[in-house]
Amino acid sequence: MYPIDLSGKNGIVFGVANDKSIAWSIAETLHKAGANLALTYQNERLKSRVARLVEQWDNVTLWECDVTDSKQIGEVFQELKGRYGSISFVVHSVAFANREDLLGAFSETSREGFMKALDVSAYSLIPIAKYAAPLMVEGGSIVTITFHASEKVYPGYNVMGTAKAALENEVKQLAAEMGPNEIRVNALSPGPLDTLSARGIGGFLDMKHVHEQRSPLRRNTTHEEVGDAALFLCSQLSSGITGTILPVDGGYHIMGI
Ligand SMILES: NC(=O)c1ccc[n+]([C@@H]2O[C@H](COP(=O)([O-])OP(=O)(O)OC[C@H]3O[C@@H](n4cnc5c(N)ncnc54)[C@H](O)[C@@H]3O)[C@@H](O)[C@H]2O)c1
Repeated sequence: MYPIDLSGKNGIVFGVANDKSIAWSIAETLHKAGANLALTYQNERLKSRVARLVEQWDNVTLWECDVTDSKQIGEVFQELKGRYGSISFVVHSVAFANREDLLGAFSETSREGFMKALDVSAYSLIPIAKYAAPLMVEGGSIVTITFHASEKVYPGYNVMGTAKAALENEVKQLAAEMGPNEIRVNALSPGPLDTLSARGIGGFLDMKHVHEQRSPLRRNTTHEEVGDAALFLCSQLSSGITGTILPVDGGYHIMGI
């Protein structure tokens, strides 16, 4: 048995694009812990790749969901209700910014690019939490993924830093609103990890190098460590924790220089 047992628990993970996705590491860990999982992917183009990843799993459902469409989000939770009745966790691991907004000067961010980044990467947590809450009949856990650029400047991260600041604020507001129903809302804040999205960030390799040199653990964070931390937050072992941003970054965030 896995160190934390989630057998009999149902939940959904948004944001699997491939086997490097943070959502995938989390889904794999939750699966090993025995949870019944639904996964969503952004569009038809990703469907076969995600389907291949889970072909050996028997207790999994796949749905397409573009998180800029609240109707689709509502339909996914309707399907989830039909399949499982109730759920105990939701993982939101979704972000997007136009490539040009992750390379140039922050002051050059376009209005359209700003709205897009904030819509996908921050706003989407709100309808997801809204539709998830009624299905969390015995309480539950909502987990999203943020980054240290929400509070410190990482040149190249640009508008995504703004989106992460908004996302972290949402975590706190949703946690305060949903706490009386035993629904917890938290974020993991991993150090830099090689993923499809990370490749688009200007200076990403420098970020990895600096984290490796300066973090107290003197190495980069692994996908597995983020999966394990998500499992903790999705389980009852974290029952007293809500509204929290939990760094999984080898301690990098405590360093001054
Ligand atoms: N990789 C890192 O270094 C790192 C560090 C800290 C936080 N994060 C965060 O982790 C999360 C996951 O990113 P990742 O690094 O695993 O990259 P990824 O590219 O594997 O995942 C991003 C996901 O967002 C999805 N997505 C984008 N637009 C969407 C839309 N309109 N509707 C539905 N889904 C959409 C993509 O399809 C993809 O599955 C993001 O929030 C990212 O900001 C990543």
